[in-house]
Amino acid sequence: MISLCGIFLLSAVLVSPLAVAQAPPTFSWDMLAPTQNLTWVECYSTFQCTRLEVPLDYSDPSVGTAALAVIRLPTNVSKAEYRGPLLFNPGGPGGSGVDTLVTVGQSAQLVFGNQYDVVGFDPRGVSYSTPIASFFETDAERAVWNAGEVPTSLNASSDSIPHDWARASLLGQLAAQRDASGILKYVTTDNVARDMLRITESFGFEKLQYYGLSYGSVLGATFTALFPDKVGRILIDGVPDANAWFNANLTFEATDTDKALQTFFDGCTAAGPDLCAFYAPTASAIEARLETLTTAIRARPVPVVTPTGYGIVDYSLLRSVIFNSLYTPYTLFPVLAQGLAALEAGNGTILFSMGETAPPFECDCTNATVPFHLNGAEATVAIQCGDAVEVNDSVEELRNFFENAARTSEFAEFLVGSNRVSCAGWKVYRKDRFKGPVGAANTSFPLLLVTNTADPVTPKAGALKTLAGFPGSALLTQDSPGHTSMTAPSLCTSAYFREYFVNGTLPPPGTVCPVNAALFGQPANSTSKRAEGEEEMLAALRIIADAVRPVITRKFTF
Ligand SMILES: *[C@@H]1O[C@H](CO)[C@@H](O)[C@H](O)[C@H]1NC(C)=O
Ligand SMILES: *[C@@H]1O[C@H](CO)[C@@H](O)[C@H](O)[C@H]1NC(C)=O
Ligand SMILES: *[C@@H]1O[C@H](CO)[C@@H](O)[C@H](O)[C@H]1NC(C)=O
Ligand SMILES: *[C@@H]1O[C@H](CO)[C@@H](O)[C@H](O)[C@H]1NC(C)=O
Ligand SMILES: *[C@@H]1O[C@H](CO)[C@@H](O)[C@H](O)[C@H]1NC(C)=O
Ligand SMILES: *[C@@H]1O[C@H](CO)[C@@H](O)[C@H](O)[C@H]1NC(C)=O
Ligand SMILES: *[C@@H]1O[C@H](CO)[C@@H](O)[C@H](O)[C@H]1NC(C)=O
Ligand SMILES: *[C@@H]1O[C@H](CO)[C@@H](O)[C@H](O)[C@H]1NC(C)=O
Ligand SMILES: *[C@@H]1O[C@H](CO)[C@@H](O)[C@H](O)[C@H]1NC(C)=O
Ligand SMILES: *[C@@H]1O[C@H](CO)[C@@H](O)[C@H](O)[C@H]1NC(C)=O
Repeated sequence: MISLCGIFLLSAVLVSPLAVAQAPPTFSWDMLAPTQNLTWVECYSTFQCTRLEVPLDYSDPSVGTAALAVIRLPTNVSKAEYRGPLLFNPGGPGGSGVDTLVTVGQSAQLVFGNQYDVVGFDPRGVSYSTPIASFFETDAERAVWNAGEVPTSLNASSDSIPHDWARASLLGQLAAQRDASGILKYVTTDNVARDMLRITESFGFEKLQYYGLSYGSVLGATFTALFPDKVGRILIDGVPDANAWFNANLTFEATDTDKALQTFFDGCTAAGPDLCAFYAPTASAIEARLETLTTAIRARPVPVVTPTGYGIVDYSLLRSVIFNSLYTPYTLFPVLAQGLAALEAGNGTILFSMGETAPPFECDCTNATVPFHLNGAEATVAIQCGDAVEVNDSVEELRNFFENAARTSEFAEFLVGSNRVSCAGWKVYRKDRFKGPVGAANTSFPLLLVTNTADPVTPKAGALKTLAGFPGSALLTQDSPGHTSMTAPSLCTSAYFREYFVNGTLPPPGTVCPVNAALFGQPANSTSKRAEGEEEMLAALRIIADAVRPVITRKFTF
């Protein structure tokens, strides 16, 4: 799977489009006693942390509690200026809001306005929140499973779909069998929405202020459907068709995937041979060159040994690296071009390292009690499949599903296909979960939706479908390829973000923002003099763009 999006600390399995680039410093969450109010302690140098106790089942307190890991970067403005908490979700599902906030908190406060406490939280089942979604008994067992989760294209060979179906079924059985305490059915998006309201109320506020990326858009839209009168500000960015999410059918989300790939061909031609190593005089010549290379790699994969690792660049890895680059083209297209050119010459080192996942597993055999928290992959499956209708497809049905999806995009083998395959193996569902339709006739404040012109996994057409469920809400378009507006800095987009949060103003209908970046690192326009604060804003946006770069693994998400 490749996740929809998410700023993720990588786990070996997850291909999250957005990944925290560096492991943040640590904090002993397990030393904090959960409380029913926000009892803050200092953490991660400049942040404050707490564990908030919430009911696992809001309609039946006897089921037990979860403890949410919540972190904030407190604002230092006066009480009169203070606007309360601004909650954040990085996507996935399964992304850690805690790790993400530690990495981008200062920059986010600059972007959204320092009248807010920016607040990250690990959704129930995820990372530092307890109980955690975990299908394995030891880290070593997890690592062995994950080692088999190499990126696979469903189109790699005739047994790819049957094999992946069998693995998904096996994982689904393990998850169900090992969920002795019965918590998995409570980690669904509707409950995370209820948790967001609880966090907001614990701050002494009534209405949610929220920024959600990618899957975080599904969460924000679900919140609005459940609590239309609790919308303070909800900005969702990289928005899929939220109803498709609950149908375990992301086919429509591939609408612009090939358009995003086209920007690689067009951008490379425009950049020229100095900036694009895979250059050819026309876009179609580059496309043909890539096709020739792909066919050659399919016939003869390239073994790679580097000082830090080794592996094979085969059809699946090549395809997944290309697909992954579409999430963050501004950072990855130049590297991809170098990797393709080198691979053509028989050297797979760059391509291989673009596909490398987590560092090699090291067992902390001396202390088996160290709490495990990198459960992104397990949380992804539990949430995305536990949310959706039961699919239970056979191998034949999955083959038909894939072939139909391949008519929408030549990359249907990843996100679209792997989401469906995973869910075909899933077995744990809660009967009364929210399954849509996602919409609300009357919200207490309009939502702001944000989309890119060529987003490979959350196309504008999907954002428009979700928008249609929320009359009075607005859509802002950023003129760029890549997944979520954060993929490229844009002073225009960030100005509308602030307008929305601080002043409550929506962009005029049809607004399209340019970005302050160019594909293939073409020199930025340095002749124009920037207004005061613009350089600082751009620097903050670049930090965020850098932090949300993708990590390859088998499972793509958003
Ligand atoms: C929060 O709850 C704890 C006990 O759970 C209590 O000691 C503390 O005073 C409470 N803090 C506030 C601010 O209410
Ligand atoms: C508040 O924090 C900002 C940076 O986040 C800093 O520039 C400013 O000086 C601080 N103001 C006060 C009154 O501490
Ligand atoms: C999934 O959605 C696509 C279009 O978005 C549709 O063509 C297809 O029939 C759907 N598949 C299933 C199994 O519902
Ligand atoms: C392959 O490329 C890498 C990275 O550019 C380089 O370090 C390495 O020396 C190359 N290997 C060979 C055999 O040329
Ligand atoms: C094992 O880890 C736990 C939790 O981090 C810690 O409290 C304990 O001291 C560690 N034990 C050893 C022997 O390192
Ligand atoms: C899923 O499909 C299999 C095979 O068709 C069937 O045996 C099983 O009962 C189905 N499970 C559910 C929950 O529908
Ligand atoms: C799958 O692979 C075949 C070659 O075996 C190719 O012709 C076809 O276009 C591929 N389909 C997709 C959707 O990638
Ligand atoms: C929308 O809700 C507000 C209160 O939140 C109410 O005053 C208004 O009449 C409602 N509008 C419609 C069209 O239902
Ligand atoms: C909010 O509106 C005021 C006046 O309407 C304007 O001067 C200010 O720049 C706006 N602030 C933001 C953050 O957009
Ligand atoms: C570069 O800056 C100049 C002066 O501000 C402007 O006229 C021009 O449109 C800009 N070019 C690009 C490509 O942004």
